[in-house]
Amino acid sequence: MRRIAAILMLASTLAGTVASPAAAQQTIPGVIHTDQPGPVISRNIQGQFAEHLGSGIYDGIWVGPDSPIPNTRGIRNDVVAALKAVKMPVVRWPGGCFADIYNWRDGIGPRDKRPVRKNDWWGGLETNQFGTHEFFDFAEQTGSDTYVAINMATATPAVMREWLDYITSRDSDTLAQERRANGHAEPFRLGFVGIGNEAWGCGGAQTPEYFSDNYRRFATFFHKNGATFHMHNDNTALRVASGPNNDDTHWMEVVLKNAGPMMDAISLHYYTLWHGDWLQRNSATALNITPAAWNEILYQASRMDGVLRDHEAVMDRIDPTRRIGLFVDEWGTWYAPEPGTEPGHLYQQNTLRDALVAAETFNIFHAHAARVRMANIAQAVNVLQAMLLTDGAKMARTPTYYTFAMYVPFQDATFLPVTITAPTLTAESGQFPAFSVSAAKGKDGQIHVAVANADKDHGYHLALDLGTPGLRHVAGQILTAARLDAHNTPGAPEEIAPQAFTGATIGGGKLLLDVPAKSVVVVGVD
Ligand code: AHR
Repeated sequence: MRRIAAILMLASTLAGTVASPAAAQQTIPGVIHTDQPGPVISRNIQGQFAEHLGSGIYDGIWVGPDSPIPNTRGIRNDVVAALKAVKMPVVRWPGGCFADIYNWRDGIGPRDKRPVRKNDWWGGLETNQFGTHEFFDFAEQTGSDTYVAINMATATPAVMREWLDYITSRDSDTLAQERRANGHAEPFRLGFVGIGNEAWGCGGAQTPEYFSDNYRRFATFFHKNGATFHMHNDNTALRVASGPNNDDTHWMEVVLKNAGPMMDAISLHYYTLWHGDWLQRNSATALNITPAAWNEILYQASRMDGVLRDHEAVMDRIDPTRRIGLFVDEWGTWYAPEPGTEPGHLYQQNTLRDALVAAETFNIFHAHAARVRMANIAQAVNVLQAMLLTDGAKMARTPTYYTFAMYVPFQDATFLPVTITAPTLTAESGQFPAFSVSAAKGKDGQIHVAVANADKDHGYHLALDLGTPGLRHVAGQILTAARLDAHNTPGAPEEIAPQAFTGATIGGGKLLLDVPAKSVVVVGVD
């Protein structure tokens, strides 16, 4: 299976030059290897990230119980409904860089007594109205699993331990009693805990040697149930070590060798940046999406495949049984802030190009499902490549949101390798496949096929051999728009949303897809 996935990527990389209009008329054959099922694609790769940053939490998720904006216990109903609709599987909180300046004690107890702190990372004041209880309420309302990032850089293992006991203890200890006194009798459901965030950067500018020693210290006091023969604790969460930035395989190597046995997963952060350079960030919208900018961003997104392969090579050497998961717990596009907004709030618009980035990235994650078991787009609301944008009582679903909606059938589906050769497109920084195809057998028994066509000029006719007789029905959706920078704005009619896809037919064991330029197509076959 891995070989075929590799062939797919290699073929995509090596084949051809920029597609000509004539080439666009050709039928491109491919095979969906329904007889070679691969790993399960964890639903958690469609995870989210919500940080105390700009309006990511306040206004975006939390408006308070007295707000005229419809809410349940202070949490926006429209945002909850939208995230529930895409079956948000897991949500990471409270940061990011913010996690390492966060004191969990500030966010419990009566809200009118909570301290106000400076948010040194992202600007403004942190009122602590959204704390532990509010976060778990948000997760419960959206039906998501929880991923809490503890403060490793400016707090201690003792602080971590107390927070974990407060969250998970079923006992009659003082911390559990305090949680009960604060209104939650039962322990909260804690799925995952991040130990460290960007420990190489905002998490303390640590070396991998120093971090991995430090991680061992924190992991020792994590007190995970069953971590040692005598450890009986209510904390069953999985431990996630702060992993590398981009392609820093040295970090991966050192941390895994030194601390691998004490972790369940290690994280990776990869952001899609103009020319891969923080200093050159350009705007998400309008005139700045020139043809060159379109290709450059989609090229940078396609680099995720190589980054994952490099890290997996290290992981496979040190952890050949693949016990340790790779969690891409921050990914997405990072543009210049929208004009007129506070730069530290990282508010940016979101266009058809971002929808393609998301689809291209999902197709890559699917091919790496054996190791990539969680990913968290940065971020859920109002920050970076957001799923949702809010403005007062108004809310918009972004094109990225709609890619997530279309990919829901891939949650916990079984990966099916695809062999196909895509033409190559050229960006300023490199070359990338014009389109990618991903297939999986869903829990509903259907075969789901997704195509991310990043080619803004050409459509493609795909003829995919299904190798399974008797498949007769195909239906699906397409996300595309006339303009490259099509986007949705809170309070305005939607410019871009999925439509029924009419370009699919099935017969003779083949799925024929007539995929237009710059589009995301997802179909189900049975
Ligand atoms: O997602 C925004 C920031 O990006 C996070 O706080 C940090 O971890 C990363 O650098």
